[in-house]
Amino acid sequence: MDESLQDYHAVVAVSELEDRVPYPVDIGAEEIALVMMDNEIYAINNICTHEYACLSDGYVEDDRIVCPLHLAEFDITTGEVVEDPAEENLQTYSVKVVDDQVYVKI
Ligand code: FES
Repeated sequence: MDESLQDYHAVVAVSELEDRVPYPVDIGAEEIALVMMDNEIYAINNICTHEYACLSDGYVEDDRIVCPLHLAEFDITTGEVVEDPAEENLQTYSVKVVDDQVYVKI
């Protein structure tokens, strides 16, 4: 395998992703949401840091993902909280695209 993809996991084809529509993927015990924005793909933890909710059940507004439960908002590019009630930032993951395949580093 390509050495530059060490620790990366193939998760989905780019063509499966729609702009600003969160796409949930599990890598082992890790629950992740992929979000494509303007042809750039980001990976964030899919579980809200406030209580238990899947952010992929929420929606994307500009570059923020909005939690479906209490409407906390996180910056998709950095994982940072931008709106209460969440206080803790989301973990983000490194993403690579090779031949239409999305890889996420865990
Ligand atoms: S669970 Fe996400 S804001 Fe409360």
